[in-house]
Amino acid sequence: MHLHATRTVFGEGNADARLMLVGEQPGDQEDRKGKPFVGPAGHLLDRALKEAGLDPADAYVTNAVKHFKFTRTEPRKRRIHRAPTLREMTACSPWLERELALVEPELIVVLGATAGKALLGSSFRVGQVRGTVMEEEIHGHRERLVPTVHPSSVLRAEDRDTAYQGFLADLKVAARALG
Ligand code: URA
Repeated sequence: MHLHATRTVFGEGNADARLMLVGEQPGDQEDRKGKPFVGPAGHLLDRALKEAGLDPADAYVTNAVKHFKFTRTEPRKRRIHRAPTLREMTACSPWLERELALVEPELIVVLGATAGKALLGSSFRVGQVRGTVMEEEIHGHRERLVPTVHPSSVLRAEDRDTAYQGFLADLKVAARALG
């Protein structure tokens, strides 16, 4: 539900970008600052993109859902992220469609299951397709996509190094596909 978020967080970046990155929804920091991927997941994403040979400054970065959804265990305590519902993804899909039409990226990096479901449908399973170059019809356009896990899942992983290396390997596939 968008009602408790501070603001709508739209995508940001170069409108001529060859690469579009699609995440899930803004997190706590993004909700405060009004920009996508400026918190811990964004820092990890930037580091991995650079290491993979992709320039974050050249990419257009956005989310499937444009509002932060959260719960609090107690008043004034930390805001804990809650995954968006299909209804929320559907409500935000015209924004994502418009961003795709404006940027016309050559490649989309799909960051996690929510972005995958928003772009490719509810049967999307990130584990089955991560690190592959897919070609799919999305909103009437042929798009090339490389799915990978969400950077937050790397931060949460028990073996963070292995998770990071897997994430980096997927981004290297994207860097090669972009040429
Ligand atoms: N996670 C996301 O999916 N998007 C953001 O912008 C930040 C964290």
